[in-house]
Amino acid sequence: MKILTTKKELLADVSALKALGKTIGFVPTMGALHEGHFSLVRRCANENDVCVVSIFVNPTQFNNPEDLEKYPRDLKRDTEALAEMGCNLVFAPSPEEMYSPEEMSQTFEFDFGGLDHVMEGLHRPGHFNGVVQVVSKLFDLVQPYRAYFGEKDFQQIAVIKRMVKLMNYDVIIVSCPIVRETSGLARSSRNERLSPAERATAANIARILFESRQLTASQSVCQVQSWVIEQINRVDGLRVEYYEIVDCDTLQPATEWKNAIGCVTVYCGDVRLIDNIKYIG
Ligand code: PAJ
Repeated sequence: MKILTTKKELLADVSALKALGKTIGFVPTMGALHEGHFSLVRRCANENDVCVVSIFVNPTQFNNPEDLEKYPRDLKRDTEALAEMGCNLVFAPSPEEMYSPEEMSQTFEFDFGGLDHVMEGLHRPGHFNGVVQVVSKLFDLVQPYRAYFGEKDFQQIAVIKRMVKLMNYDVIIVSCPIVRETSGLARSSRNERLSPAERATAANIARILFESRQLTASQSVCQVQSWVIEQINRVDGLRVEYYEIVDCDTLQPATEWKNAIGCVTVYCGDVRLIDNIKYIG
């Protein structure tokens, strides 16, 4: 497995692979890899001739400097795990390699068509601009045939699909299911910042989301939305930032159960956790 840190080296390798007619699969990540990421990497390695993984903690998508600073980083451990998983190439650039000083200081602008007016877009201003900025740069470099994204970041997939359409990328976006711990807690790099007691507390988020599925036969979208917020806030140590039940495609508030997904953000101590659940209408 190769580990590259410069755009120049990466472009040279990608051109050589393309000349040989290889299909390139791509998994963009911010590192601190766990089973959630690994599920994407294994699938990518299985479905393509070459599997490329990027590891880059993208500063432009963090609206909270403390969150950026505290984001866990362990390149050595990450690359060792990737080597065993069938990954062929890791791209791990520095912020200076990825961005010019102008790009770092100016806000990238993208027309989200309203996708950014809800949930993560609303609560993390500028976040999806940064995501589109980095993913479009990475797509330009890696030129993948398929790119893999996790449904844990459900809104991110919707944003990426719109970016692909608007910017005319010739890439298949593959959505992969959420990987959870045995307790139900959605795997996340941020879980590393939870104490063992907080981890147990955080497991209540998924438990309550799954329980809420039982209520759809007898209760309205509005009622279940309030129920979930109330149940999570009742758990000592958890605080809901938002819980929205929206249409899977438009991400606008759902009025019926058909095609509905509930997306939640919860603070456990100072750690911000996200999760979601699909409802079967
Ligand atoms: P990161 O949070 O590292 O996640 C990388 C990919 O792994 C994303 O597509 C995410 O949805 C997926 N993932 C994370 N946890 C998962 C889980 N428990 N189950 C399934 N998939 C999971 O998302 C980002 O990085 C960044 O925004 C990025 C796209 C790399 C752009 O900087």
